[in-house]
Amino acid sequence: MEEIVKNGMLVFAVNGKRFEVASVDPSTTLLQFLRNQTCFKSPKLGCGEGGCGACVVLLSKYDPQLKRVEDFSVSSCLTLLCSLHGCAITTSDGLGNTKNRFHSIHERFAGFHASQCGYCTPGMCVSFFSALINADKEKSKLTASEAEKSMVGNLCRCTGYRPVADACKTFAADVDIEDLGFNSFWKNEDSRDIKLSKLPPYDPSKNLTTFPQFLKSESAACLDSSKYPWDTPVSVDELRSLLCSDFFENEASIKLVVGNTGTGYYKETERYDRYIDLRYIHDLSILKLDHIGLEVGATVTISKLISFLKEENKTNSSLYGKLVSQKLALHMEKIASPFVRNSASVGGNLVMAQRNGFPSDIATLFFGLGATICIMTSQGHEKLTFEEFLARPLLDARSVLLNFLIPFKKEGSSTSSKFLFETYRASPRPLGNALAYVNAAFLADVSPHGNEVLINDIQLAFGAYGTKHARRAKKVEEYLTGKILNVNVLLEALNLVKQAIVPEDGTSHADYRSSMVVSFLFEFLFRLTNVGLRVSGGLLNRISNKDGYISEGKPETLLSSAKQVVESSKEYYPVGEPMKKFGASMQASGEAVYVDDIPSPPNCLYGAFIYSTRPLAGVKGIHFGSNSLPDGVTAIITFKDIPSRGANIGSKTIFGAEPLFADDVARYAGDRIAFVVAESQKSADVAASMAIVEYDAENIDSPILTVEEAVQKSSFFQVPPFLYPKEVGDFSKEMAEADHKILSAEVRLGSQYYFYMETQTALAVPDEDNCMVVYASSQCPEYAGSVIASCLGVPEHNIRVVTRRVGGGFGGKAVRAMPVSTACALAALKLQRPVRIYVNRKTDMIMAGGRHPMKITYTVGFKSNGKITALHLDILVNAGITEDVSPVIPSNFIAALKKYDWGALSFDIKVCKTNLSSKSAMRGPGEVQGSFVAEAIMEHVASVLSLEVDSIRNENIHTFESLTLFYKHSAGDIGDYTLPSIIDKLAISSSFIQRREMIEQYNQKNIWKKRGISRVPLVYESTQRPTPGKVSILSDGSVVVEVGGIEIGQGLWTKVKQMTAYGLSLIESSWSEELVEKVRVIQADTLSLVQGGFTAGSTTSESSCEAVRLCCKILVERLTPLKMKLQEQNGSVDWTTLICQAQFQAVNLAANSYYVPESSSMQYLNYGAAVSEVEIDILTGETKILQSDVIYDCGQSLNPAVDMGQIEGAFVQGIGYFMLEEYLTNADGLVVSDSTWTYKIPTIDTIPKNFNVQVLNSGHHKKRVLSSKASGEPPLLLASSVHCATRAAVKAARKQLKLWGKLDGSDTRFYLDVPATLPVVKTQCGLDYVEKYLETLLEQEI
Ligand SMILES: Cc1cc2nc3c(=O)[nH]c(=O)nc-3n(C[C@H](O)[C@H](O)[C@H](O)COP(=O)(O)OP(=O)(O)OC[C@H]3O[C@@H](n4cnc5c(N)ncnc54)[C@H](O)[C@@H]3O)c2cc1C
Ligand code: FES
Ligand code: FES
Repeated sequence: MEEIVKNGMLVFAVNGKRFEVASVDPSTTLLQFLRNQTCFKSPKLGCGEGGCGACVVLLSKYDPQLKRVEDFSVSSCLTLLCSLHGCAITTSDGLGNTKNRFHSIHERFAGFHASQCGYCTPGMCVSFFSALINADKEKSKLTASEAEKSMVGNLCRCTGYRPVADACKTFAADVDIEDLGFNSFWKNEDSRDIKLSKLPPYDPSKNLTTFPQFLKSESAACLDSSKYPWDTPVSVDELRSLLCSDFFENEASIKLVVGNTGTGYYKETERYDRYIDLRYIHDLSILKLDHIGLEVGATVTISKLISFLKEENKTNSSLYGKLVSQKLALHMEKIASPFVRNSASVGGNLVMAQRNGFPSDIATLFFGLGATICIMTSQGHEKLTFEEFLARPLLDARSVLLNFLIPFKKEGSSTSSKFLFETYRASPRPLGNALAYVNAAFLADVSPHGNEVLINDIQLAFGAYGTKHARRAKKVEEYLTGKILNVNVLLEALNLVKQAIVPEDGTSHADYRSSMVVSFLFEFLFRLTNVGLRVSGGLLNRISNKDGYISEGKPETLLSSAKQVVESSKEYYPVGEPMKKFGASMQASGEAVYVDDIPSPPNCLYGAFIYSTRPLAGVKGIHFGSNSLPDGVTAIITFKDIPSRGANIGSKTIFGAEPLFADDVARYAGDRIAFVVAESQKSADVAASMAIVEYDAENIDSPILTVEEAVQKSSFFQVPPFLYPKEVGDFSKEMAEADHKILSAEVRLGSQYYFYMETQTALAVPDEDNCMVVYASSQCPEYAGSVIASCLGVPEHNIRVVTRRVGGGFGGKAVRAMPVSTACALAALKLQRPVRIYVNRKTDMIMAGGRHPMKITYTVGFKSNGKITALHLDILVNAGITEDVSPVIPSNFIAALKKYDWGALSFDIKVCKTNLSSKSAMRGPGEVQGSFVAEAIMEHVASVLSLEVDSIRNENIHTFESLTLFYKHSAGDIGDYTLPSIIDKLAISSSFIQRREMIEQYNQKNIWKKRGISRVPLVYESTQRPTPGKVSILSDGSVVVEVGGIEIGQGLWTKVKQMTAYGLSLIESSWSEELVEKVRVIQADTLSLVQGGFTAGSTTSESSCEAVRLCCKILVERLTPLKMKLQEQNGSVDWTTLICQAQFQAVNLAANSYYVPESSSMQYLNYGAAVSEVEIDILTGETKILQSDVIYDCGQSLNPAVDMGQIEGAFVQGIGYFMLEEYLTNADGLVVSDSTWTYKIPTIDTIPKNFNVQVLNSGHHKKRVLSSKASGEPPLLLASSVHCATRAAVKAARKQLKLWGKLDGSDTRFYLDVPATLPVVKTQCGLDYVEKYLETLLEQEI
């Protein structure tokens, strides 16, 4: 060991195991190392840019001086391996595992049903563990608020976060256990103490040792820079001499590095000769707060600075210092996520702001506080103001940022003068890792002047609004200085700031950003105006007394409470039990194996797609600049490599096929042109990103990018007549009956990306005799196998596709996954080596397709009471380049739209073929849009009649008679129609009527916050499909089950397991409990179980269960006579003996089935309803979901815990669609929302604060599988309640403008776009709301 210290070898530990790395490419990340070179695969790659948390690990460092171990979470995808010398890493499987024992975090996650596909779960567990262990160390018990906030940067696409938050909050000291939701540990009626005692125990004193003893001595030494291209200078002098040394003076490319999180933003493909790690330089890690100010060394991490400020705020420092510390800390907690802040340095952030135009928060904060900065260049040391720093020529790679000083003002320039400091930030998510649209920091020196306020001095800094750097609004500052603030002065200041702070041309949401600039300044100054002082009740006094220091109070929790009601049934026990998900603890520990976790076979190669960036263009060739293949690249596969016996096919559905590769012409931006195959995934990805495609636009038509262009050119896909939905009634006749008409109103809906946490992935391994085994993350391995066989030109029996589990699908791993496995198989065939791919997030987002955008034009007639008599729609569906499953969209759309009785319904639907990526099924495909349009029409009708929209909805809810007219046999029996009772029940459980009245009052009293509430019904038509099953009993009595359905997180395996135990226990009911433990559901294998079909449409779980039940029935029939005989002989018999005897007597212990649903009952309706209440902030456009109440009819749920998870998860995914997710393209149709930076799915801070869900057991439905109903997709549609509630709140804001006489247009007639992001909400409220308010005040004064 001694020797190693001297050698300075790269040594670290992972889960207590020592690793010594002799040589390494310095750009290697920890995640790459863990996943490629160790058995610790629990950290997953979700984004590779610090934006998702799937890769989070715990990093532990030993401080020999303080003799203390520091533990903190980091994103392993950004952490460089060389930076880990002497450190210890703990992954989720290091916390606990199947072999040793799960950690109680794993077990509580499992028991709270907080893991569905499981891909996010290991990262979540480590993020939380980091918060927990640090609270334990401080001997300050973790709070519920801290527990929630530890997760804000961790994305989950399945669970909807509520169960995750609850599982974590069980560890919090201040949690009210009654506020925690449904779990498998306790029953509602249990007392608090019993509940607590049932939780898997957690004893902080028995926490694992995160830092192994053997590393303590090794951690003291630095890495030997003669062995690694990695320098670790320990002083500024050493750094200077290093930078001036001959080696560096010459052309060597160098990179200064601290946390390396910057690469998450400016993706770096450049290779550097040497890295200089600045973290060992003591002077750069200084943190000092005294009467002069706050001095911060450049390598101080954001987390360290926050903790320091919080600590200092509690102890010494002046009042000014306290104010600044508190506000800075509060603001910085909104930057990125804990696991990024823990390694991200303040200096790195500012260099990115200076050099890369990064929309930094810190730059704005420091600018606003008049910080100075010290840099070291080849010319020597320079001390600059912030303005000078940002304005100077870009820092070169050899200039070093040393430190900053935030000067502390003397306590007021006169005895009576006081300071105010505030910071602002508007961003798509309040806390969960989102860059700001605009940020600001304002500092003012004010003094009372009679009953008014005089501004002695003011500094106004704005950033991130669409300029390269943050800027001070100097003209406004000059104008305000020396002024006594009143409404007139403020209005003038706002006019000036609008002219001073202007987003550059091409900035997205430029008008919104401009209006935010006004909002922020208004918010800061209004309270100091003559009117504001009156309104806000004595702020002047508070300023006078407390030096402008206004306490923020106790931190709030993000989520307040959750109530889940499940009604389970024992009738088919163990079916109906809310059992926890099979393998959930193993998913939490990260041991569950996904395709990318399968170790690479020897000789394995890796692929990456080269795609077109043009919508329609000839492809002349591909090159890489120097014309040779980049390092590590083995081959470039194109359509020319498809064997002559095969076909250029990448996917297929019953409607048609899609080519694997563009041939001579690329047909859309994102079209696959080639597949680079290289020695590593990194080399393949780098090569693909470097590829230069030569296009040829000659003799090529202009592309069709919009549905309007498709109509002009009659570019449509055919919808088979049997799929085209049927009209209802006589539109012209019923329209004539109408008292009112809305003619040709338009709704436009955009796309949505799946954002499965595991991107597309496959591994193809060539086998003997022209065969191939393909491991694919696929929702339909059967079709994938068939496509691969067609492409390779071999019989289908040559291709075995294996799928164990999928890390999130949502429809995106069905048709869209096929080209991925096909490309790997083609490359593997050609090169006769295994080939795998893990598609990077950007490429995935560009090629995925996603939900169908649409343009809908409607004409509707209605009576004066709101009863609709007739509706006609013209629908243009943008399907992209190939059919995929688009021909089903019209029927899906209409099926969901028909939730109301429209009187007569007619439509014209065109499925447009455009030069865009093929759109595919995404959770509730077509139904989401249909259901939303129905609500949009209700809102529109209500606004025309000036009636409550809820009464219009009630007026048009189906009777059973009209339901049957619209849905025919899907409507089932009258007893199945539970919607009216659900709506009533929900009104009571959510106190809908009372809350509506309270909201009315709230809105009258509050100027800047408005609330809205909305109740939305759901009718959803599901279709069952034929599904195979196979149950085999092995000699020891254990049972192995195969089904057509794939476990994609929806809990299919758990339901199947329960059903198998139920089915087999029909021999002897007392065996059911034992049988559940004996069943294992195994991976899908297309050559073992054929006709697997698609896992889609929400019904695969029930169909797979039914297939299994049929198998069990056969087995029970075979085993019953033997059981009777044995019972007669021995008096009793147990399962193991029965099976042993059955083996002996050659009973066939394997049974196959193919469940084919009856055509008359294969389609049925699902019902539910939701009430949501939101609060909008008129100043920023931000929407907070205060409460959502959902009741959803699962029939007799097969597993209410699983169904609850589906309901909550789908609802939150719907919130994403309706409120957050903008899946945007450029003018060529190339996706530009192509990363976690630009595409914002919900995080824990954007879900309902109160989330109450009831899984309704509506009893017997004799045509359903053991009376159960589907839950996977329908609840997503209910999230439109959030959008409708937002519209109601916006309506209240507009009404207020109307009262002021300042509304252009109508207060009720407006359309709120989907998604209703901050800019959308703000725009509909009025971008100049503030100015109008001030003008009103002035008029009133007159
Ligand atoms: C997911 C994510 C979300 C984020 N969200 C926000 C946000 O909302 N608001 C915000 O303000 N920031 C945000 N950031 C940016 C984050 O604050 C920076 O990435 C981080 O502070 C950079 O620090 P680092 O130590 O990792 O720098 P590194 O990545 O190590 O370095 C960044 C750059 O600066 C150079 N450099 C570093 N230190 C010095 C120095 N002392 N002298 C000279 N050059 C130096 C490096 O050579 C490199 O070019 C986010 C980052 C991520 C990954
Ligand atoms: S993979 Fe590292 S944060 Fe997403
Ligand atoms: S369980 Fe979180 S992403 Fe699937």
